[in-house]
Amino acid sequence: MTPLLRRATADDLRALAEVDARGFGNHQSDADLENFKPLFEPDRFLLACDPDSGAIVGVTGSYPLEVTLPGGAVLPAPGVTWVSVDPTMRRRGILRAMFTEQHAGFVEDGLVLSLLTASEGAIYGRFGYGVTTLNRSFEILRRRAVFRADVPDPGGVRYLDAEAARKHAPEVHRRWCARTPGAVTRSDAMWDMWFRDDERWRGGGSGLFYLAHRDGFASYRVHHSDDSAAVQDMFAATDDAYIALWRVLLGLDLVEKVTGYKSVAMDDPLPLMLADPRRVQTTHLDDGMWSRVLDVPAALAARTYAAEIDVVLDVHDGFLGRGGRFRLRGGPEGATCDPTDATADVEFAIGVLGSLLFGAGRATTFARAGLAHGLPEVLRRMDAAFTADRDPQHGTGF
Ligand SMILES: CC(C)(COP(=O)(O)OP(=O)(O)OC[C@H]1O[C@@H](n2cnc3c(N)ncnc32)[C@H](O)[C@@H]1OP(=O)(O)O)[C@@H](O)C(=O)NCCC(=O)NCCS
Repeated sequence: MTPLLRRATADDLRALAEVDARGFGNHQSDADLENFKPLFEPDRFLLACDPDSGAIVGVTGSYPLEVTLPGGAVLPAPGVTWVSVDPTMRRRGILRAMFTEQHAGFVEDGLVLSLLTASEGAIYGRFGYGVTTLNRSFEILRRRAVFRADVPDPGGVRYLDAEAARKHAPEVHRRWCARTPGAVTRSDAMWDMWFRDDERWRGGGSGLFYLAHRDGFASYRVHHSDDSAAVQDMFAATDDAYIALWRVLLGLDLVEKVTGYKSVAMDDPLPLMLADPRRVQTTHLDDGMWSRVLDVPAALAARTYAAEIDVVLDVHDGFLGRGGRFRLRGGPEGATCDPTDATADVEFAIGVLGSLLFGAGRATTFARAGLAHGLPEVLRRMDAAFTADRDPQHGTGF
């Protein structure tokens, strides 16, 4: 079946939610949909419809996000979301048809990058997406997690009620985003949804508790079934705020373990703060956010580089034809990147760039996987230049 593609209208919400429900196994109540309305921009949702009946059989949407690159530049980037196809219509090319149209629209709009978080790891590489951040689930047995004597105790943390936290968190989050590659913005509507703390999504836990420091914000809920505290958000704009928030979380007297799934990056300093770094147990590691470069020269010129680099890249893009050969000249102060006919130094598929652009993974590692090709010394120079101050983190699922 060749689906008919059309933009959604406000009236489609219930029907597209039904496709989503079948895909993800979650029915949405009228109240859920009412709550979602502030986030629903129908124009940003593309529907695949049965050409005979008109029934909606597929959906893909996007949120208007912004993302931070190494060096601090912020680019607008659609966060692709609500992707699903009716289970009775699987593997007939409906996702591919929707993605082709949706991403052609992104290119037409002059967007440089698109982003998504994936339900399964095998779907999006073929569309030129590369893994940008990791979700690291962790568990800390609190009673044995003792801070080293030489780690500061900055203090300054207090509890806020939801209303005060709603005011405090966005400002801290903006500052956290500014210093974190891969960090995505939250709109007011997203913050409102976050703070609604709907009972249905609590997984049997308590309502959220909100911790605030002048330069930091954390939220957690307590699960009495196993005496755990599950960290939902953890954003700190200074190192002191980060240490202070963790000191409170690991000091919750009646809690046996502190858990979370996205707030402790792979290069996170938390294990170093503890007398026994092994207390921060990684229980699961997954791809977090993926990004797709839509405009190679604009993306590469938007970030800074840790070391001087002058390299010709040959980028392959079988999905959107946005590849080509580009000369990148960059350093700590900025970069230029232009199409060129010069011989390429390094060659790879565009998905690799979704990782390298954010300092996620090294060119030499992609070469070891057979996914990047170039002289070892050029790849090593790329490693030195593309590395970021800290590992990328997206901070918000979407
Ligand atoms: C994932 C999903 C949207 C795919 O839709 P679909 O219409 O069956 O996909 P298509 O037929 O257009 O497939 C496009 C390509 O992706 C591949 N693909 C699709 N789903 C895949 C999966 N789950 N795992 C691996 N590959 C997959 C297809 O084999 C096809 O490959 P090719 O074109 O390179 O040969 C659909 O299975 C679904 O709704 N799943 C449940 C909800 C979900 O996980 N949504 C994604 C949220 S991030």
